[in-house]
Amino acid sequence: MSTDDPSPANPNPRHIAIIMDGNGRWAQKRFMPRAMGHQAGVKTVRKIVEYCANQHIEVLTLFAFSSENWRRPENEVSLLMALFMATLQREINKLDRNNIRLRFIGDRSAFPDKLQKKMADGEMQTAHNTALTLVIAANYGGHWDICQATQKIAAKIAATELTEQDISEALINQHLSTADLPEPDLFIRTGGEQRVSNFMLWQLAYAEMYFTPTLWPDFDQNTLEEAIKSFKGRQRRFGHTGEQVLSQSVTLQP
Ligand code: IPE
Ligand code: IPE
Ligand code: MG
Repeated sequence: MSTDDPSPANPNPRHIAIIMDGNGRWAQKRFMPRAMGHQAGVKTVRKIVEYCANQHIEVLTLFAFSSENWRRPENEVSLLMALFMATLQREINKLDRNNIRLRFIGDRSAFPDKLQKKMADGEMQTAHNTALTLVIAANYGGHWDICQATQKIAAKIAATELTEQDISEALINQHLSTADLPEPDLFIRTGGEQRVSNFMLWQLAYAEMYFTPTLWPDFDQNTLEEAIKSFKGRQRRFGHTGEQVLSQSVTLQP
């Protein structure tokens, strides 16, 4: 391919990671309690999961509750927990029927026992599924993830299974909660804020970022297609020059 060819389109992203933001403002705009926004947000989740499965996206990660969201008023936190539980109860069989593998990342030890059990059961029931992997980030923080990976590595060093010389980027990767997943290549944040809010800090190193003012309950197939279109039209360089990428003389990887 000559260097003056237009940049070749990227294939579909393998892994889409989304910060689902704007539920509260969606409800407030309608003079409704924030809870209604979260309920409307669950409907969007359903639609987006279905769309990604149909489009053969390999991994969809959804940020559902951050390690900082405990700072919200107690009634909102308990509502979110109840909604999380009810949604799992209702959806796990359907995910399973659709060959979707459910996974959770985050510190689940802070959740009520019943919820932890539901999460583990959901993961077990769908573990063999081979279509979309749906990753729900719950009580997740990028700092937490790096911290828990460091603890595991330190424990292996203490047990003389590893030495400090073994610590490499690959080794850290292997101890993150996403060890077995491809890195996100498309990051989307709805709701208009342009920040990462302690989401997958390590994993987003080379993700393409897409910010949309659309509030999460209004996000749909069309807005997701817009994001994917934007992703496909970008030239990913991973440190190379644009000319190197166009001449296809280099291997592109994060
Ligand atoms: C995102 O929507 C959902 C969660 C954080 C659980 P928000 O609740 O943050 O909505 P806004 O940002 O207040 O509109
Ligand atoms: C990030 O949204 C967390 C989730 C979407 C679960 P927030 O609404 O909590 O983020 P900040 O606090 O505005 O950065
Ligand atoms: Mg928010």
